Amino acid sequence: MAPRNHLSFLFLSLLCFTSLSLLLSFLKNSFLSSSSPSPVISSRTIATRQFKHDEVSSGGCDFSDGFWIHDPKEKERSLARYDETCKEIFKGWNCILAGKSNAKELLSWRWKPKACDLPNFDPIQFLERYRNTNIGFVGDSLNRNMFVSLFCTLRHVSSEVKKWRPAGADRCYTFLKFNLTIGYHRTNLLARYGRWSANANGGVLESLGYKEGYRVDVDIPEGTWAEAPSFHDILILNTGHWWWAPSKFHPQKSPMLFFEKGLPILPPRPPHEGLDMALRHMILYVERRVRPGTIKYFRTQSPRHFEGGDWDQGGSCHRMQPLSSKLVDALFSLSNNGTNTEARLVNQHLYKSLEGSSFNILDVTRMSEFRADAHPSTAGGKKHDDCMHWCLPGITDTWNDLFIAHLSNTRI
Ligand SMILES: *[C@@H]1O[C@H](CO)[C@@H](O)[C@H](O)[C@H]1NC(C)=O
Ligand SMILES: *[C@@H]1O[C@H](CO)[C@@H](O)[C@H](O)[C@H]1NC(C)=O
Repeated sequence: MAPRNHLSFLFLSLLCFTSLSLLLSFLKNSFLSSSSPSPVISSRTIATRQFKHDEVSSGGCDFSDGFWIHDPKEKERSLARYDETCKEIFKGWNCILAGKSNAKELLSWRWKPKACDLPNFDPIQFLERYRNTNIGFVGDSLNRNMFVSLFCTLRHVSSEVKKWRPAGADRCYTFLKFNLTIGYHRTNLLARYGRWSANANGGVLESLGYKEGYRVDVDIPEGTWAEAPSFHDILILNTGHWWWAPSKFHPQKSPMLFFEKGLPILPPRPPHEGLDMALRHMILYVERRVRPGTIKYFRTQSPRHFEGGDWDQGGSCHRMQPLSSKLVDALFSLSNNGTNTEARLVNQHLYKSLEGSSFNILDVTRMSEFRADAHPSTAGGKKHDDCMHWCLPGITDTWNDLFIAHLSNTRI
């Protein structure tokens, strides 16, 4: 080949290579900007779609997906946060005072999200940052358990408090130096309910044979929290345990009878449909009632850990260590339909109802499912084991770490 041909060959190759790179980069760009994302992005989206709200407010890390690490230092940190002397701890949850054998040992586990760390929140920084703020917990006794954990943590660093009951609260404390108020509004179903008995003059439910039950108004909030959305700046709602609680809402002897706009819903619906209706109405109610800028959370279901039967069938929770992932799935998977499937079942309803709402989801379910060791059990002081509430100090401290980590990323 002549030198000249050599050169033109080189030139041509170069041209080819450049165009090819250009073409490739063009393809890549149009691929990315089109609706079909690159494989890396898509797998991540699928894996975490249900945690969308968490992701947005935690800078890309899913705090809810992780595992518990044994770390003896964690026990010291936990007991320095607050201990069994906090008076607000309900007696049945004070496992240290009640002498539960692993009451302190259960504190030596640290939650480790897969992609980041979940810090223990700093109560002084928190009080400073949320001066002049009202924070309301609205829900059943599990939300009270979380409220007590936050109260004890804050009270430990700031002892001047005023106890009062604004806006229908069951209990409320203002940390006077900071004018930060935290309150608990007690409500089992969110929706208003009360005893119902057949009317002697008859009626449509009477004609269907109903004699006793509970009237549940799916579109009316219970009075204990109806004013909470306009009072608080930050709300944390929950409901779940009471929707399948035959001890109170017995399907035959005292069924839930759902009402809407003051009239019975016909034909009468099962509790899981009532839950969907109540959630839809209560979410809308909050969205309409809150002041602009209010931050709203819905907490996912807290799992129970009854083994060997349900709470009234001699079920117990004697484990001394967190469960393995394998056991967690055996105990909670919906397909196994075990004693404790309630947790994931309730969550299905929550996720469906919260889709498209302005609520953030506080997902405590996964981390809590591991902690069969952290309930009061026989130390609860009842006839049956308490495998539903949590020892304090205990894992609702981690729920609050999660809540406050989210909040720090949410608040502008
Ligand atoms: C305390 O905080 C509440 C709620 O934000 C506010 O309405 C009130 O004016 C504050 N009080 C003082 C003295 O700043
Ligand atoms: C699940 O188990 C309960 C009793 O433990 C039973 O009443 C119910 O029908 C079961 N549900 C399914 C879908 O198998």
